[in-house]
Amino acid sequence: MAVRLQRPLVAAACLFLCCLAGVRCGPDPRLRKELIDLEASMQIGGRMVLTDAEQRLDALLAKLKQDEMSRKDFPPSMHFFKARRLIQASPLFGLLQEMPKGAVLHVHDFAMVDVEWLVKNATYRPNCYMCFTDSASVRFVFASQGPKPVERCSPWVLLESLRAKMGNATKLDNSIRGNLTLFTDRDPETEYPSQDVVWNRFEAAFGALWGLVTFAPVFRDYYMEALNQFYADNVMYLELRALLPQVYELDGCTHDQAWTLQTYQDLTKEFISTHPDFYGARIIFTNHRHAKLSVVTEAVKKAMQLQKDFPDFLAGFDLVGREDQGKTLWYFRDALALPAEKGATLPYFFHAGETNFEGTEVDQNLLDALLLNTSRIGHGFALQRHPVAKDLSRKRRVAVEVCPISNQVLKLVKDLRNHPATALMMEDHPLVISSDDPAMFGSSPLSSDFYEAFVGFGGVKSHVGSLKQLAINSIRFSALTPKQQEEALVLWQRKWTKFVAKNQVLKTN
Ligand SMILES: *[C@@H]1O[C@H](CO)[C@@H](O)[C@H](O)[C@H]1NC(C)=O
Ligand SMILES: *[C@@H]1O[C@H](CO)[C@@H](O)[C@H](O)[C@H]1NC(C)=O
Ligand SMILES: *[C@@H]1O[C@H](CO)[C@@H](O)[C@H](O)[C@H]1NC(C)=O
Ligand SMILES: *[C@@H]1O[C@H](CO)[C@@H](O)[C@H](O)[C@H]1NC(C)=O
Ligand SMILES: [Zn+2]
Repeated sequence: MAVRLQRPLVAAACLFLCCLAGVRCGPDPRLRKELIDLEASMQIGGRMVLTDAEQRLDALLAKLKQDEMSRKDFPPSMHFFKARRLIQASPLFGLLQEMPKGAVLHVHDFAMVDVEWLVKNATYRPNCYMCFTDSASVRFVFASQGPKPVERCSPWVLLESLRAKMGNATKLDNSIRGNLTLFTDRDPETEYPSQDVVWNRFEAAFGALWGLVTFAPVFRDYYMEALNQFYADNVMYLELRALLPQVYELDGCTHDQAWTLQTYQDLTKEFISTHPDFYGARIIFTNHRHAKLSVVTEAVKKAMQLQKDFPDFLAGFDLVGREDQGKTLWYFRDALALPAEKGATLPYFFHAGETNFEGTEVDQNLLDALLLNTSRIGHGFALQRHPVAKDLSRKRRVAVEVCPISNQVLKLVKDLRNHPATALMMEDHPLVISSDDPAMFGSSPLSSDFYEAFVGFGGVKSHVGSLKQLAINSIRFSALTPKQQEEALVLWQRKWTKFVAKNQVLKTN
């Protein structure tokens, strides 16, 4: 880089001297071009050498992006709930859906499957009971006999009987759907006026779906459905943050965490056997950051054990939940230092910097995550305000998992052109694009976030090389071993070549 930077600097110095000497001179167009090209080369994928076919695809992408940029309603500047319809109808989005995007490295276990599936499939199964809570939410449970009453929730009703009594269940199903996701057709700014409101509803939605997705038969089908949906969105590998809850059977018996992890592993293998071009999945075991120190200490010990028992399936450990209200990484430092003390390996994948409060205790999470040798940073929204953390992340190749739609819906940023990752992309900071909780946001498994990053962050400048680099990054920054990464990249390259060959011509509309 130093060498490349010198030429424009020398040119700039000449310009200065030349003016001093009193020679008539305007800004030098060659120098201008050199500076523009230099900047363009610094962005993500900016130095990628493109094949002829990729350049033809790039022409198509540029044309389609121009169509997006010239809209009166520019989708990345709007709340995603309002922009969704526009995005879905755009030909560029269609192309991004088709594009092999590599891996999703930041997604949560129970926010992966389109909520429609939960409503129409999970709640329509036999033995499904529901109650209404004091706080206008709902709870579910599957039971062979009438389940035990729950505090501050109306008596359980069998959904099958409730629906039969109503005759037309459309309204009921709509209200169930409304409880299981944040997505709404109403005005999102009115519905969610503050971070507190939106986070409360976000957590309430997880509370509502809990009894559905932790029922063993639904748990299995939910995961298979998730793999189907991510695969259909051209994702080939997942790293899933999972709470590994106690999963229950119809008779109320529960399974332990090892069973849950084993089930994920078996189902992943089953999916690969029918989809050989899918590379697989790994689990990042998570615990809530509101928990007590003793609980997190036990969770870390459990994670070390599971890491030993599932060395090529359990990727590591993380803490989840609203950072601004949870405890800090520093608070949990003794628990998190246990693996290093015991000479065990437990890679960390910490959420950090998902805040726009500067200088709070929580805001220190970014530096503390790096101190604790995190392998990646979840969100890192605050990274631009932490030059030391940013530098460490860049030098140590600790990638930032950027989730554009999540940050917007959870009210860290309104207009995605103002997202701090815009700058990270322009300087090729190690990063990946991910979707966090697509089912909660009503977004695609990955394509909607790719759209926001490519059009909103990238603006006019990002191109086919940027997209290619993002896909490659998602494999390079995964927890896969170097050998597995090579394998996955070969698989990805095959898909990519096909995709590029197929999308060459400007479609006339
Ligand atoms: C739910 O989905 C599973 C498989 O995904 C299917 O076997 C089952 O029949 C579906 N059930 C309902 C009620 O739609
Ligand atoms: C059920 O009610 C909804 C409106 O709540 C209506 O749109 C729909 O047509 C009704 N379905 C039937 C089968 O009557
Ligand atoms: C959640 O369900 C309750 C009970 O049916 C309903 O009153 C409420 O409107 C629902 N909430 C949303 C956001 O749809
Ligand atoms: C982080 O890595 C450094 C250097 O390898 C090591 O000394 C330290 O113990 C590690 N800390 C933790 C918490 O793993
Ligand atoms: Zn997350």
